[in-house]
Amino acid sequence: MKNSVNKFLSLYNSEKVKVEKVLAISLRKRNPESLYKPGEYIIAGGGKRLRPLLVLLSAMAVSDKKIKPYYASAAVELLHNFTLVHDDIMDNADIRRGRPTLHKMYSLDTAILVGDSLLSVAYEYLLKDCNGNAKEVLKAFTQGLVEVCEGQSMDKDFELKQKVSIEEYLLMIEKKTAAMAEMCCKIGAYLGGGTEVEVKALSKFGKNIGIAFQIQDDLLDISADEKEFGKIVGGDLMEGKKTYLFLKALSKAKGEDNKLLEKVTERKGIKQNQIKKYKLLYQKLGVLEDSRDEIINYTKKALFSLKVLKNEDDREMFTWLANSLIKRNK
Ligand code: IPE
Ligand code: IPE
Ligand code: MG
Ligand code: MG
Ligand code: MG
Repeated sequence: MKNSVNKFLSLYNSEKVKVEKVLAISLRKRNPESLYKPGEYIIAGGGKRLRPLLVLLSAMAVSDKKIKPYYASAAVELLHNFTLVHDDIMDNADIRRGRPTLHKMYSLDTAILVGDSLLSVAYEYLLKDCNGNAKEVLKAFTQGLVEVCEGQSMDKDFELKQKVSIEEYLLMIEKKTAAMAEMCCKIGAYLGGGTEVEVKALSKFGKNIGIAFQIQDDLLDISADEKEFGKIVGGDLMEGKKTYLFLKALSKAKGEDNKLLEKVTERKGIKQNQIKKYKLLYQKLGVLEDSRDEIINYTKKALFSLKVLKNEDDREMFTWLANSLIKRNK
């Protein structure tokens, strides 16, 4: 088992290096510098590069490892970085990947335009890998993007809403996060020449892994080590976000505890010096464990859909990936 784990880790790392190379040239030698230097700044900030790896691993799984669409992989990372740059403006975030966010480092105008250009170059790169099934691939990519916008809009609406159900929250994260993970697996499977059954199975895997991923992002927002996480811990509470932990806490809290939580929405977020108090309340209510359980549930659901993959090695690889995501601390 240990050997196979190392095998998957080294596969992930070696493919990640290749994705980095394509990403590094994607914005190079373009003009004006005022647009592309800040673009390179966000890309050079690093990141887990999960989405490009989902594209690659899906394509490899359905093609006996023969097809590796690096341009499409870079495209989804460019698209993801576009969403991050605009998300940080909307979320008033100062730190991303351990560095000042793009709008803090440069300006709001620059961040808006860099986001737009990352999205444009994303399409340029995607087209480089599209062949016979370009229509399906472009359709899926565009659908993922449409859903991110809808999800982000719901996320903002929820900040001001006193009552949000867990069902509404799940729909919101399906759109803002899971739709992209689903899309990555789907286009990977298409580009690898997968059958309809394989495309469906991998899409479902991506969607459920994406839901687990966002709940875990919510959990890390309160429980991570700030240096490792690369974002401000407690940022969601400061913005009055309806995260999984917040909604679960609200459903369990009584009396004064409940009032304390309702204040977050009434006052449109809390001050940084109150984060500790809310973390203690979350711990008292047991919502960190609740979110862990939910992450595990969705991860299991994700893995279940991969039963149709022919190759055991591929199933093991995705199992390794899903388990390492559960253990992540950033
Ligand atoms: C952050 O995505 C945005 C979410 C959908 C939670 P990642 O956690 O994948 O960020 P990077 O790319 O690794 O920095
Ligand atoms: C991100 O959700 C969803 C995106 C589409 C970028 P968050 O707002 O929770 O992401 P982070 O925590 O800032 O990375
Ligand atoms: Mg956000
Ligand atoms: Mg954010
Ligand atoms: Mg977050």
